[in-house]
Order: sequence, then C-alpha cells, then structure tokens
Amino acid sequence: MKPANYAAKAILEKYTPSLQGEYSAFAPANIALCKYWGKRDVALNLPVNDSLSVSLKNKGTHTTLKTLPATATDSVILNDLPITPDSPAYQKIVTHIDLFRTVFGPQPFAVKTTNTVPTAAGVASSASGFAALTTALTGIYSLPLTAQELSVLARLGSGSACRSVFNGFVRWYQGSAVDGSDSYAALLPQQWSTLRIGLLTLTHQQKNISSREGMLRTTETSHLYRQWSVQAAEDILQLEQAISQQDFELLGRTAEHNAMSMHATMLSAWPPLCYWISDSIAVLHQVWSLRKEGLDIYVTMDAGPNIKLLFEQQDEKKIRRFFPSAEICCLF
Ligand code: DP6
Repeated sequence: MKPANYAAKAILEKYTPSLQGEYSAFAPANIALCKYWGKRDVALNLPVNDSLSVSLKNKGTHTTLKTLPATATDSVILNDLPITPDSPAYQKIVTHIDLFRTVFGPQPFAVKTTNTVPTAAGVASSASGFAALTTALTGIYSLPLTAQELSVLARLGSGSACRSVFNGFVRWYQGSAVDGSDSYAALLPQQWSTLRIGLLTLTHQQKNISSREGMLRTTETSHLYRQWSVQAAEDILQLEQAISQQDFELLGRTAEHNAMSMHATMLSAWPPLCYWISDSIAVLHQVWSLRKEGLDIYVTMDAGPNIKLLFEQQDEKKIRRFFPSAEICCLF
C-alpha cells in the first residue's frame, strides 16, 4: 500500500460509510501570503514550513459525484469536457478517489468538476479541485469527518488543497509526525472586509515546470533555500499580527517580501528556475513606483508569471485605472 493510502486509511477506517447516490461540493481557491515551498515528504505532501493563505470566497471548484453501477468505469468531466483515462488529470482524480475505495471497497463514480477560478491568472485550480473532491467524497459516503481530518485528506491530493477546505484566512501547520497526521490547515477567526486581491493575467500560457517539480529542484540545489524556513516562520508571525490588527502595510510588505524570497530560492536553484516573463518585471516596477508615490499596493506571485495585487477597498478605483485588466476579488 502507498504511504498516502496508509495515511487516509488511518482516518477513514474510524467511520462507517453510508453511500448516497449523488453529492455536490464547492471549495474556494486560495492565495498564499506566506508560501508553501518545499516538501519534507513528497509522497504525503508534507511541507518544510507553515504557510498562511486567504481564500477567494466564491472563486474555486464545483464538484459533483454520482455513483455508477459496479461494472462501470469512472468517468470524469472537467470544465464541461470528458477527459480520458490516459490523461494526467483523470489519473490524479482517480488516485484520490482510491484513497477512499481502498478502505470502503470498489465503487465506480461519475465525476463532474468545474472551475470558476481563473486558471489562466495563475490561480492554482488543484488546491480548490482536490478540496472540492475530498469534500464531495466525504459527503457521498456520509462521513462525519472533523475539519482537521478533511484538511489532511485534501492535502494528500495537493499540498495547498488542505487550505482550500476553508474560506477566510487559513494557516497550514507543517506538523512533525512522519505520517502527516498533524499537518493540517485551520481557519483563523479574523475577517477583513476591506481587503482585496486583484488577479492580473499577463499570459495564458501554461507553466512548463509544475510546483511539485520546482519545489524539488529548489530544495535539492538552492543554497538560499536553507534560509527559507527561517524567514517563513518569521513571516507567519508578522502576518498573524497584521491580520489581528488589520495593519495593511504590515500584511502587504510581509506577503510581498515572502513571495520575492521564494522566487529568489528558485533563481538560485540549478538549473535556475524563473517563472517570470518580462511583463511580470514591468508590473513589479510599476507597483513599486506607484507605492513610492503613496499608493498602498503590494504584490504576491506563485509558481508562474502572473501577479496578484494586494490592496484595500478605498483604493479600488485607482487600481482599476492603473490595472484595467485586473480581476478584483472581495474576500470576506
Ligand atoms: C507556489 O500545492 O500546487 O502556489 O503539493 O505538489 O500539489 P503540490 O503543490 P501545490 O504548491 C503550491 C505552491 C505555491 C505556494 C502556495 O500556494 O503556498
């Protein structure tokens, strides 16, 4: 049995399933303000550092599961198009469902999953996708899981998915157990109604190096990476303080510094890893010069060239003027 199946079994075998005919679930996408970058266990998606994110409320993934007759094979419809068993997306989904079937027995499903998250803007659909799939599986088997157990199971699909089982500010505790049982995300109680994120799509091209691969290369070859977990631990404390005091300058500064430091570890990997394109650098300079002129605007970036702007409601008009193509998200 694979390590992920063992980890899932430890949770699922405590429950007696009662299979429903159909179940639908939604999970939001999330943007990390302190990034998850680097795994201490690749098979279980166990991180080297804690991370902290904010969810995109109604932008994410809707997933519906239906039970099929015992002789059928799983079918998957992704964004209204059927996908075939040889595609990586189909295999990832089926592997995740198998975490449940290993414990509860064979049962084919029809999966329909639709993203409302703007994937082209570099917002990972795998986080909301695996969170929605895990929630739908929990529902269709009628399992009264705790939020912590749900988060652990979502993490087995994709690390950042463990944060997408909640809306709002979410902290993922790295944990120390080898089986990952204490590596889960939890909701922070604070809300921040004026906080905004602007998604700036600079290219529609898919990245050719996945986060999974990028993390591995960075942890194995970057000397700067040794410093990463030290900074991440400090940034988490700063972000928690910023959130509880609604100190936007501290939040923005910490999030941007964290993202730039993550990209520095990528650049110092070998072969170097650079997800930026020339437009990314142009926007960074634009943001930095607007900030010098007094506009309260910060950025964060993930494993891709697109930019997420951080600002507050009072500056929304100006942001729309300077960045007309930004898709503005209310978070609370
Ligand atoms: C840069 O969660 O997509 O977006 O665990 O390999 O599926 P896997 O990686 P994934 O990595 C996300 C990396 C990031 C930072 C973050 O969201 O914290």
